[in-house]
Amino acid sequence: MKQFYIAGNWKMHKTVAESVALARDLVSKLGSTRQKVMIAPAFTALASVAEVVKGTQLRLGAQNMGPEEQGAHTGEVSVLMLKDLGVQTVILGHSERRHSYREDDALINKKLLLALKHGLEPILCVGETLEEREAGKLESVIGTQVRDGLKGVDAAALARVIIAYEPVWAIGTGKTATPQDADAVHLYIRKVLGGLYGEAAAKAMVIQYGGSVKADNAAELMGMPNIDGALVGGASLKPETFVPIVDFSA
Ligand code: 13P
Repeated sequence: MKQFYIAGNWKMHKTVAESVALARDLVSKLGSTRQKVMIAPAFTALASVAEVVKGTQLRLGAQNMGPEEQGAHTGEVSVLMLKDLGVQTVILGHSERRHSYREDDALINKKLLLALKHGLEPILCVGETLEEREAGKLESVIGTQVRDGLKGVDAAALARVIIAYEPVWAIGTGKTATPQDADAVHLYIRKVLGGLYGEAAAKAMVIQYGGSVKADNAAELMGMPNIDGALVGGASLKPETFVPIVDFSA
């Protein structure tokens, strides 16, 4: 049976105490899950949540990182600091970073190469705005984000990269891409990857869908041939909404 990769992006939510409580609850409720599960608390809660998930089936993720190992970069958090806390995964190029903080493909690529260099699993987020989709630019936007995001990544390193397709218009809006629409974009991403790395590597790639994933649409989305998991925002903030997504097939 296929294993799915379900990740929770907690965004800018929760104090340390709230994060620890949620992580504890998830550890106890997801103890026997067969899926790969990751949670990404805010930077401030990483150290405390790391203690909770250590030795469990839950992976620890960060929501972003700086593009340099260290130095005079006020306000940034480096890959070395994340590694030091036991972080295993890092979300890069989230649309909120691309749009609100002007992160471009070159910067995201720099971070991705740094994450790989230090053994972190990067989740490269890609996605089009509604305007781009309606202007017929979906494939060119996604193609560029994938190609430029992965510049300099060799085939061996690619195996450690996860891609998350998050249409910007579906994030936090309650609007989900139809499973068929999402699958078509995932298939296109595989086509781009196939052109870069060959068909076998493209097929092996884990591509998550993100954007208003909920318990009631998870099974249908995960049932599509090219969707291998989910990157969940709002619904990852409570056990009662996140656990049923992880257990969608149960
Ligand atoms: P929502 O699930 O709240 O739409 O957020 C999706 C997302 O941005 C996950 O990274």
